[in-house]
Amino acid sequence: MAKINKDYTKLKSSYLFSTIARKVREYEAANPGADIIRLGIGDVTRPLTPAITGALHKAVDEMGEAATFKGYAPDLGYDFLRKAIADNDYRKRGCDIADDEIFVSDGAKSDSGNIQEIFGRDNVIAVGDPVYPVYVDTNVMAGRSGVYDESTGMWSDIVYMPCLEENGFAPQLPQGEKIPDIIYLCFPNNPTGATICKNELQKWVDYANEHESVIIYDAAYEAYISESDVPHSIYECDGARTCAIEIRSFSKNAGFTGVRLGFTVIPKDLKVEGVRLYDLWARRHGTKYNGAPYIIQRAGEAVYSEAGRAEVRDLVGYYMENASYILKGLKSAGYSAFGGVNAPYIWLKTPEGLSSWEFFDELLREANVVGTPGCGFGPSGEGYLRLTAFGDKDRTKEAVDRISNLAKTM
Ligand code: MLT
Repeated sequence: MAKINKDYTKLKSSYLFSTIARKVREYEAANPGADIIRLGIGDVTRPLTPAITGALHKAVDEMGEAATFKGYAPDLGYDFLRKAIADNDYRKRGCDIADDEIFVSDGAKSDSGNIQEIFGRDNVIAVGDPVYPVYVDTNVMAGRSGVYDESTGMWSDIVYMPCLEENGFAPQLPQGEKIPDIIYLCFPNNPTGATICKNELQKWVDYANEHESVIIYDAAYEAYISESDVPHSIYECDGARTCAIEIRSFSKNAGFTGVRLGFTVIPKDLKVEGVRLYDLWARRHGTKYNGAPYIIQRAGEAVYSEAGRAEVRDLVGYYMENASYILKGLKSAGYSAFGGVNAPYIWLKTPEGLSSWEFFDELLREANVVGTPGCGFGPSGEGYLRLTAFGDKDRTKEAVDRISNLAKTM
């Protein structure tokens, strides 16, 4: 008789963003014609730029000619893209990363979900709280979570590092009895938009090296960093090559959410129990993945061209104007709001007495604006709501006006 993976049954029945989508669908069905503004899921809205579409068209034409047709892509990525990434994202910033330490993939979500596979089941993981749900859910699926406590909203075997207003929404180094083996860090942070400076990140690297822990560093929102003391990569810190994996995405900078491209960096110096994680991830890729499509990797390469870089700067600038408008608008309407300076997310405190879901419902009903309830990211997210800056500029302004007007009635 077949058996299921019982760890899957421990999960909440649907993924956070699927639940939100269902609630919005139900609201629309009950209120036909409602003019809903979606600032929930962090999905981009601006079209791909000319450098990217030009590269895509050219690559499609190559695929249509016998002389330039490509079959399976190399499973770890084409050399042209690995080199462009290592040159531009790392070596130009003084980070010592080789071309072949870049593993090209179909996105940061898959990589941040799959990376736990190369670690044993008996590792203790630590996550910021609130946190991007993929890190926790995939460890639950892998049987690394223990038991869920409804009253705290926490899994017994996971170390939660609270990210609260009083600590600038940054996790503190775990000091308790449980020293985590694997530490997930995400900066600029999804969902709070918080960042830490290089000195603070260095402490995490030192901690990980001292305790032989591994940091999984999600830098998907790196392009949004505007302040000079915020590190763009964990490899800017001394010693990161022996303790850190970094995950990046083309989704949020170049608008590839519907195109799919990302990468993971694993330095060859990073060993656990004497084994190179590089080899394990390469083995996994080789077995389970046939490589991101050639045309998409050519589009990724174009992101690093002169025109591509200028266009990405404009895209990021567009969204960051939204972020700044949301942050200022909500603050002047009397809300407490955070993030939005080095990240495309605004972390909004719910009005007194309203839970995250209650405020979500109120916003949907009274302002027809969709956010993401903070509690969906972890227990310390309760009492907050996340708004994304990835919307259309005029619609974003309209949403801020509506939320501001709502404040007057509460
Ligand atoms: C989010 O809204 O948190 C992001 O869209 C999730 C993702 O990038 O997968």
